[in-house]
Amino acid sequence: MKYRTIGTDPQTRREVSVLALGAMLFGSATDEKTSFAVLDRYAEAGGTFIDTSDNYAFWVDGGQGGQSEELLGRWRRSRGIGDEIVIATKLGARPLAPGTSYVDNPEGLSAKVIRESAERSRERLGVDKLDLLYAHIEDHTVPLGETVEGFAALVTEGTVGLLGVSNHAAWRVERARALAAAAGLPGYEVLQYAHTHLRPRTDVPEALFPDGSLGHAGPDLLSYLRAEPGLTLVAYSPLLKGAYTHPDRLPADFDHPGTPARLAVLREVARETGATVNQVVLARQIGGELPVVPLAGVSSVAQLEENLAAVDLELTAEQRARLDAAH
Ligand SMILES: NC(=O)c1ccc[n+]([C@@H]2O[C@H](COP(=O)([O-])OP(=O)(O)OC[C@H]3O[C@@H](n4cnc5c(N)ncnc54)[C@H](OP(=O)(O)O)[C@@H]3O)[C@@H](O)[C@H]2O)c1
Repeated sequence: MKYRTIGTDPQTRREVSVLALGAMLFGSATDEKTSFAVLDRYAEAGGTFIDTSDNYAFWVDGGQGGQSEELLGRWRRSRGIGDEIVIATKLGARPLAPGTSYVDNPEGLSAKVIRESAERSRERLGVDKLDLLYAHIEDHTVPLGETVEGFAALVTEGTVGLLGVSNHAAWRVERARALAAAAGLPGYEVLQYAHTHLRPRTDVPEALFPDGSLGHAGPDLLSYLRAEPGLTLVAYSPLLKGAYTHPDRLPADFDHPGTPARLAVLREVARETGATVNQVVLARQIGGELPVVPLAGVSSVAQLEENLAAVDLELTAEQRARLDAAH
């Protein structure tokens, strides 16, 4: 395994493995036995960066979520896992009642929700301190300053280590960070967005969240990342939920004339290296110029093995340039 640092403050920054593991469906669509086997193998391979959320996976059973955090709590306890593994969680998008969703009935990002939901996450995970806590989706009903202060208070009190933000427009990330910096408070240091080799269209409804914000790391967010060296991008759905191996799963926002060219160069580099297409996608993110940590979900140990092998796949500068240039 290889490692990189997230965060900048020597008091709060953490070393994490360059490949993160998504636990979104653990405890719901993925049963406990398989989830534990995947988690055990990931830890055995040196993986130390696991992702969950307080609302995973509410849509599987129509509840409010929490099964993934609870399963991770049971796994931590049964394996005696301590500080060596960073478990990131999120709040803001948990439905307030069963049968509803983050679209029509989200908990949001008020100071009260931040405090109470973080406490519930700590209980489900069985930890005194959340290693990394993200704002999951935007909340336009609460002043940004209240959200910034709400998150910072938990860091100051020691119940949260690092702060992160997901799916927010780049300008809102910058505004929140500027507010925090001006007040001398800790701000978001980890950005979590959908990001893969293929580029999505941004002018179709499928590319947008219901409030119009973009879940993908687009050119504006990548430019922000380039300008702020202390930030890390955690790239979710890097394997497009299996679409590189099952083309029928390709989401509608990737159906455009640039996709065949980017797929062709991906297959070309896979042939040259003897790696799989999934491994090339992950290796490109891991060893790239920008600090990107791919966050892949898996439903079997075999898929995890394939993804873990990407950590040791070295692409040449020429292969990287070809992958970047295709359009
Ligand atoms: N911040 C957010 O809003 C947000 C949104 C979505 C996800 N996330 C996080 O990101 C994590 C990853 O997202 P994701 O699950 O959408 O990721 P993904 O890596 O794009 O897709 C995971 C799926 O891809 C397939 N897969 C993975 N490795 C494979 C392999 N080697 N060969 C063939 N198929 C493979 C599997 O599909 P099958 O099971 O069908 O085989 C697996 O369930 C989630 O667990 C969650 O923690 C965050």
